[in-house]
Amino acid sequence: AQQQQALESEIAELLQQQDAAIVAHYYTAPEIQALAEATGGCVSDSLEMARFGRDHKASTLLVAGVRFMGETAKILSPEKRILMPTLEATCSLDLGCPVGELSVFCDQYPEREVVVYANTSAAVKARADWVVTSSIALDVVRHLKAQGKQLIWAPDRHLGNYIQRETDADMLLWDSECIVHDEFKAKALEDLKKVHPQAAILVHPESPQAVVEMADVVGSTSQLIAAAGRLETDTLIVATDKAIFYKMQQAAPDKLLIEAPTAGNGATCRSCAHCPWMAMNALTNIRDALRDGLPEVLVDEAVRQQAEVSLGRMLAFTK
Ligand code: 13P
Ligand code: SF4
Repeated sequence: AQQQQALESEIAELLQQQDAAIVAHYYTAPEIQALAEATGGCVSDSLEMARFGRDHKASTLLVAGVRFMGETAKILSPEKRILMPTLEATCSLDLGCPVGELSVFCDQYPEREVVVYANTSAAVKARADWVVTSSIALDVVRHLKAQGKQLIWAPDRHLGNYIQRETDADMLLWDSECIVHDEFKAKALEDLKKVHPQAAILVHPESPQAVVEMADVVGSTSQLIAAAGRLETDTLIVATDKAIFYKMQQAAPDKLLIEAPTAGNGATCRSCAHCPWMAMNALTNIRDALRDGLPEVLVDEAVRQQAEVSLGRMLAFTK
């Protein structure tokens, strides 16, 4: 504990020296989330991370999350230095959607607007017409449908499928998934619900359809935390990365939070409800990044300018 405190003080000092702020996601470790808040940074969902980073006056942002979040910060703030604890922190959705393959697919349907999830590379965002996060995907797709648009959706098939069911939009879906949410199991969730019949079920829409269909609330990480505070019931079953429990418990201090079951109940799952790439963020590599100015997130300028258009549409849409 003493060692952790010393690290936290060192990071706080470096943040001041470097004119830097931490922008963290809810899936990072509790000590990172707490430090981000205590030092004037933010902890939030991917949409709010993008907005906060763009609007913050610091000249350096330390993005604690996964690579696409660092790239988004750079796309929106080219004048800022964007540091990350490691550039190895990727996302299975980003890996599952190489820009070359997506472009070939999109070129076959030139009449369709291309809507991509924020969990993609800068190059994929540059190829898209729209970027969305889970918190505004429904609103954007409803808006596009009202304009009579046909869509290509990439890369998360579960989220795409959910949005298609909710909006009845004409969408061609890319076939990729989040390895964390894909593991939640509807049958085991049914059994758990029998043990806690009063519990409300909160689900991130990257989860499989059968799990989403059991949800009382479907939403982005911020939306799920807000719902946890608001709901009347005293027990919540939560189907998303378990690192969210830190802020969710603060929002709902008197409620019992239970993890939704994953494949094999922990024995055989690929991720056991915690993203392996989010887990690469730690106080030690945050300190190192701020001290050494490395690794820095860089995005090719032509790609950045293109990606800024589709990302800018998303941010303008929510204002
Ligand atoms: P949110 O935008 O809901 O925070 O989701 C980001 C993410 O990576 C979910 O797995
Ligand atoms: Fe990607 Fe899933 Fe990890 Fe989020 S939790 S960063 S969607 S792999």
